[in-house]
Amino acid sequence: MEIFKKKDMSEFTKEYEKNKRLLMSTVDKGIMKYFQKRGEEIQRLMSYYRCAMMEIETKFRVLNEEYSLQHDRNPINSIKTRIKQLPSIAEKLERKGLELSLEAIEENLNDVAGIRVICAFQDDVYTLANALLAQDDVTLIERKDYIANPKPNGYRSLHLIVSVPIFLEKEKRSMKVEIQLRTIAMDCWASLEHQLRYKKDYEFTDAMQQELYECAALSKDLDNRMDKLRSSMDI
Ligand code: GTP
Ligand code: MG
Repeated sequence: MEIFKKKDMSEFTKEYEKNKRLLMSTVDKGIMKYFQKRGEEIQRLMSYYRCAMMEIETKFRVLNEEYSLQHDRNPINSIKTRIKQLPSIAEKLERKGLELSLEAIEENLNDVAGIRVICAFQDDVYTLANALLAQDDVTLIERKDYIANPKPNGYRSLHLIVSVPIFLEKEKRSMKVEIQLRTIAMDCWASLEHQLRYKKDYEFTDAMQQELYECAALSKDLDNRMDKLRSSMDI
């Protein structure tokens, strides 16, 4: 098994940070120029994404309210929302070999507006997703079920890309929103794995991958056992 010594790792991290800063500074220069030209339009577009995110968040809150009246428990544990920052938008466009433009953002990026719905039980994920998708102003663009088909590393969540209309003073616009639905156990694993994997650009050994995978299996087992308890109580 390959083990990083402390010194090697800190040098590796420093090198990575330097490259990341360099990349971000070239990207930032591009953004600055583009900003000067179309700054106001960019702000407006970002505000439309925020509105669409609020629409979807409200829809989930309404569903939670209705469900809790009927079943005396909340299917939603918490909701997190985020708008992708401009440097990340620029970096993603560059990574995909696309030009930096408002049109390219709207056409090609599905995750500018993101909402994560943390549910109590696995069934709640599907109940909420189906109830949202049954609404006549929500259009499904893409559905990835990483619960039925987990990623090779063990990642589980239900991902939806939808479009939803926002009603402005003089027009109606459809905006895309990325929705991630997952249980508390799935979120626990994904949040910790994200911290370990994304923040430090660490080359994971096979043994570490295996350990993470086994932790994912534990979280899946936890979900299944809690589901069994819930259904035995008929709630
Ligand atoms: P990208 O947004 O470019 O990564 O696109 P994609 O189309 O491959 O998206 P996918 O639906 O597979 O994943 C999008 C998002 O899901 C990521 O930005 C993360 O928030 C989350 N995600 C996907 N895979 C993992 C994973 O292995 N670990 C964790 N922690 N999160 C993940
Ligand atoms: Mg993404």
